[in-house]
Amino acid sequence: MCGIVGYVGAKEKKEILLEGLSELEYRGYDSAGIAVIENDKLTSFKAVGKLKNLQEKTKNYTSSGFGVSIGHTRWATHGKPTELNAHPHLGKYSFVVHNGIIENYQEIKKGLQKNGVNFLSQTDTETIVHLFEQNYPKEQKAFEAFEDTIKTLEGAYAVLLISEVAPDTIFFAKSGSPLLIGFDNEEIYFASSDTPIIGKAKEVYYLEDGEYGYVKEGKVILFDKGGEKSFQTKALTLDKISAQKDGYRFFMEKEIYEQSRVMSETMMGRLKDECIDFEEIDEAFLEGIENIKICACGTSYHSALASSYLFERLAKIPCSVEIASEFRYKEPLLSKNTLFIVISQSGETADTLEALKMAKKGGLKTLAICNVDNSSIVRTSDRSILTRAGIEKGVASTKAFATQTMVLWMLSLFIGRIKGTTDAKIAKSEKDAMLHIPKALLIPDGLHEKIHRLSKRYLHGHGFFYIGRDIFYPLALEGALKLKEISYLHAEGYPAGEMKHGPIALADSKLFTIALMPRSLHYEKIKSNVEELSARDSTILAISPCAFDLADDFILTQHDSHPMIEFFEMMIITQLLALEISVRLGNDVDMPRNLAKSVTVE
Ligand code: AGP
Repeated sequence: MCGIVGYVGAKEKKEILLEGLSELEYRGYDSAGIAVIENDKLTSFKAVGKLKNLQEKTKNYTSSGFGVSIGHTRWATHGKPTELNAHPHLGKYSFVVHNGIIENYQEIKKGLQKNGVNFLSQTDTETIVHLFEQNYPKEQKAFEAFEDTIKTLEGAYAVLLISEVAPDTIFFAKSGSPLLIGFDNEEIYFASSDTPIIGKAKEVYYLEDGEYGYVKEGKVILFDKGGEKSFQTKALTLDKISAQKDGYRFFMEKEIYEQSRVMSETMMGRLKDECIDFEEIDEAFLEGIENIKICACGTSYHSALASSYLFERLAKIPCSVEIASEFRYKEPLLSKNTLFIVISQSGETADTLEALKMAKKGGLKTLAICNVDNSSIVRTSDRSILTRAGIEKGVASTKAFATQTMVLWMLSLFIGRIKGTTDAKIAKSEKDAMLHIPKALLIPDGLHEKIHRLSKRYLHGHGFFYIGRDIFYPLALEGALKLKEISYLHAEGYPAGEMKHGPIALADSKLFTIALMPRSLHYEKIKSNVEELSARDSTILAISPCAFDLADDFILTQHDSHPMIEFFEMMIITQLLALEISVRLGNDVDMPRNLAKSVTVE
């Protein structure tokens, strides 16, 4: 989703901004722009589409010498992805970039329009720069004008503002959307996540909600509602965890193939000979916990849903799961004996972060399962367990889902052991199964090629139903989401036993059923459900270790000894199927239309 970079110093600013924005590209955006003030002069460039369009527009521009600069990649929320709607937004003498949503922008806009302000864009962001310029003439004090502006805003924002009235200064503010400041002596950087500043800054400060201030002469002056405050920076990692495609056609494809390896890393040091251990949590933390509530969005929600079966079955602890955006507004009843778990690949998902804050406010113990260290969700929760999937660049999440599910499976056994509710024999057989996962995730010779060939039959039709039972139901949801995201075909995940209660009315030869038919869990039940669909002429692609005559297409799986081993093997097949259909349809696999990797607006 939208990305922010900023820089104050004497280096070539265009390059710093463009490099920084390119590090944020994978998160998804539809336009980009930069603005620079040097020698008291404002310059800006914007372009719709990929960053290379902005690079082309700025190719004859250089900006050496001391100055201030801001850049932005925009994922459209208010108004279409046009050049006028792209950031930075210009007033008469100032520029602003913003992530988040200003909820009261209509009201502010009306007031400004009454005072004769002319708006060029349809965005909420443009109100910020005009409001600043309306506030400035009152006292001719730029910081006070900025402070008044920020105090008027409601909603979520990370804001950088530069102005000709203070040409050596960047004003900043954060509430709800991530923003950090990087330091390398007198050089100061801003970014919405740390990747753009790794290798440039040595120290970092992650701004807290409600903080704002300005940078001038190599110094950051920080405020919150209590006034000016001091702050502590911390060392920024020096390793650029950049991901390359390593010979694969797409990041998503590489990430699918990486799953076998990263799952070993997820287990490393946690899956011990005698038991499963998480050094991130101790017994005291689980004291008094009688049930679990998990909140997440999208793929992370599917992982949560799969784990709810495991928490109840293996740890014998009641577990409920909620979509974070629903949880936030349902006025939930929270009780202090609930362990509140949030799951997020990025650690920046606005809905999940807000749900976490609500749980903390309610006095619940909170635990984050996350892939990005130092992310907002990791910093906000009481404890966190990192999934160790490595950077995931494909917008369609693959290895993050696998590692989240692995952590949750291990966590169910860990909690069961601490609470004494998991039978030792069961714990042992689960642990043995875990050791088989990396092997089950190796893609056997010919499988990818087979899925590639099969995929040509699944490019049309009037819809897909992915069906499964038990943990294979969340996997069906996830398989359908993968297909939707990158093929733009309509797909639904459904509990197999529920089809006869309505959706079976859709069955005909143009309805594609992707049937997840494990041998080790309710095989006979799912088989009957698939037969019901076959009898109504639905086209069936069955994925199973057991031959199934009624399937139109069939993918034979290799493992059938344990439901979770079958789960992960079938997960890979659904991921490859979505990938191959998307490739045949000529879509952008890694950056599908309309989607963002990190969803920082609600
Ligand atoms: C996954 O393929 C999606 N792009 C999306 O559903 C994602 O899982 C969701 O936005 C939640 O993101 P998070 O895990 O970073 O919180």
